Amino acid sequence: MRAISCVVPDSRDAILITGAAGYIGSHATLRFLREGRRVVALDDLSVGRPGAIEAIRGAAPGADLEFVRRGITEVDASWIRGRGIGAVLHFAARAIVPESVARPELYYTVNTAGSVALMRACLEGGARRFVLSSTAATYGVPPADQIPIRESTRQDPINPYGRSKLAAEWALRDLTAASAGSGFASAALRYFNVAGCDRTGVLGEDHDPETHLIPILLHHVLGRVDRVTMYGEDYDTPDGSCIRDYIHVDDLVEAHAAVLAGLGDGEFRAYNLGRGRGSSVREVIAAVERVTGHACRVEVGPRRAGDPPVLVTDPGLIDRELGWSPSVPTIEEIVGSAWAWFRNHPEGYRR
Ligand SMILES: NC(=O)c1ccc[n+]([C@@H]2O[C@H](COP(=O)([O-])OP(=O)(O)OC[C@H]3O[C@@H](n4cnc5c(N)ncnc54)[C@H](O)[C@@H]3O)[C@@H](O)[C@H]2O)c1
Repeated sequence: MRAISCVVPDSRDAILITGAAGYIGSHATLRFLREGRRVVALDDLSVGRPGAIEAIRGAAPGADLEFVRRGITEVDASWIRGRGIGAVLHFAARAIVPESVARPELYYTVNTAGSVALMRACLEGGARRFVLSSTAATYGVPPADQIPIRESTRQDPINPYGRSKLAAEWALRDLTAASAGSGFASAALRYFNVAGCDRTGVLGEDHDPETHLIPILLHHVLGRVDRVTMYGEDYDTPDGSCIRDYIHVDDLVEAHAAVLAGLGDGEFRAYNLGRGRGSSVREVIAAVERVTGHACRVEVGPRRAGDPPVLVTDPGLIDRELGWSPSVPTIEEIVGSAWAWFRNHPEGYRR
């Protein structure tokens, strides 16, 4: 995959990155600063880590970075216009499925209403590109004959998290259509399982609670978690465990650059972002054991409600239309990049 230089809408414009102190947003912030872009990094630090912003500053001294501790609903059109923001990468969200079931109002407030308020401010403030972080969770449990999942697969989310994101997708599509002629364009990017850490070793993944398989396994290797639970071993898959599509976070961020460069005025596009290859839970555990040299203690628990047996994308559309395809080919390399960071930051950014 070639590195994509993002020149649209105007290289002098700032890029607003929301959720910049979070896992993916921090990687995106560093990537665009390294390209020489002006970045306004916004995060309310409800979940994100100040240490991620410090790490970015350390890795990109002299870069044009403004960090603003603020919620996404606390910016208005004049704030956007005053900073010369031309493009927005909107990562900020609440993103834990069980929490969304317990507190749906939080998810609709932040992920749907908050995103719409931000879209409105951006449109009125003159930003011309808006990229929304969406999710494979908007597909719910696709029927077996719809695997691998294409963008045309019916979106039928089964939890408030997925529904709050799908509603934001709809709003973005409709607001883009309503602003025809203004030059505004947007995209919804449906991520599959984002994993791994910055390949230069600066940034990592530091969620609390951690709900993603690879960091949970690495916490276990580091002695921070006694054992790891595998939810279900009787799925209709070759080894009985669930299969997911893991994409390296650096590849995912690179896809955003491709989308910013490729969107034409007035367009709304939706793309799935994954590698197009599935790894079962057992395969991921084996990869962690090979990479770390540590045997994992895994116990088998019951299936979790709403866990589809297989979630794998067909990544062909974005490749055909924008020339983006992922560059990290194996699950070992993804795990290896995560292990490199976790080994050096056993306490996360708190160290
Ligand atoms: N990590 C994945 O595998 C994955 C998969 C699919 C989709 N996504 C989506 O990608 C995006 C980023 O995910 P992540 O894993 O980096 O999450 P994260 O929780 O690490 O980062 C989200 C950031 O947003 C900030 N934030 C939350 N609410 C805010 C608000 N109201 N105003 C300002 N900032 C706010 C948090 O403090 C945090 O720093 C999310 O939109 C998520 O839904 C992630």
